[in-house]
Amino acid sequence: MADERGDEREEDVEGFKERQHFASVLRAFDYYERWASARLSRVEADFRRLSPAHQQLLEIDAKVTALRAAVRQNAEVLALIIGPHRAHIGAIEEQAGLMPAGRPLESDMEKLQSTIKQFVREWSAEGAAEREAAQAPLLAALERALPGGAVRGARVLVPGAGLGRLAWEVARRGFTSQASEFSYFMLIASNFVLNSLQPHGSVNVHPWVLQTCNCKTYEDQARACAVPDVEPWSLDAAARLSMCAGDFVEVYREQQAQWEAVLSMFFIDTAHNIVEYIRLFRQILVPGGAWVNLGPLLWHYTDTPDEAMSIMIVV
Ligand SMILES: C[S@@+](CC[C@H](N)C(=O)[O-])C[C@H]1O[C@@H](n2cnc3c(N)ncnc32)[C@H](O)[C@@H]1O
Repeated sequence: MADERGDEREEDVEGFKERQHFASVLRAFDYYERWASARLSRVEADFRRLSPAHQQLLEIDAKVTALRAAVRQNAEVLALIIGPHRAHIGAIEEQAGLMPAGRPLESDMEKLQSTIKQFVREWSAEGAAEREAAQAPLLAALERALPGGAVRGARVLVPGAGLGRLAWEVARRGFTSQASEFSYFMLIASNFVLNSLQPHGSVNVHPWVLQTCNCKTYEDQARACAVPDVEPWSLDAAARLSMCAGDFVEVYREQQAQWEAVLSMFFIDTAHNIVEYIRLFRQILVPGGAWVNLGPLLWHYTDTPDEAMSIMIVV
């Protein structure tokens, strides 16, 4: 009995933390325009400190005006993405015990920026070469590993699925595909692309609007990128694609022999403990199933002192 109450309290605390986290992610989406505009204001303020002769040489006024318009357009897309939740942000914050309209963490704003850039990698024509380099070999290896698998709808799991494009491609080929993802930034944005974008057809984002390094010209910074490059809703009615929210290890730890393939792309270096990931792949795969992997070994937690653990492999 005492144990049960302890478990319930733990669940309450976990649920509360989860709501808090969800509210802070929504707040980051909602705060984007103020945050990005403040960055542009700093550029302008620095510029005004230059001598009139230098100011005349650089002439940034028209450029900053265009960048502000690009920020506005990003903010409009982000408002669409959180559309279903937007009216309730205040209520969600109150429920989650957050200060209303509090300033989001800088790290959340950076994650939001990465989410906007992830649209390019996964769902834009500009990202086609990157996808060809990463997804094409994985998909070819999948078809080699499971001959006839697409025809019979073999079950394939894509952990760390980001905005879901690889899992979508897997489903498009006929496999039964499940994407696993734990970041609310990615989950909210992929839900928009896969389920709510259709009435808008496409949207324009400006992924590099705040990027000042490695831009040759101002046009690189201001460039718009149309999303998506394909119609995500064009999947055959019989296609099987699902998205599973939560930590990969937590969600699948009880499963045994459920999947014919695990397709990991730029994922395994997110492990706190790589042994745990690899053992879990083995456990959830059917005998003779395939694990296909591609991506770097930039162990995410190696240099973060506050993170609990980082067990990696160096071969
Ligand atoms: C480097 S990104 C790669 C995304 C995508 N696969 C790609 O190649 O573009 C790693 C992804 O894994 C997700 N992720 C990290 N750890 C995870 C975990 N334990 N469970 C589920 N997703 C996780 C992150 O949120 C992020 O979207």
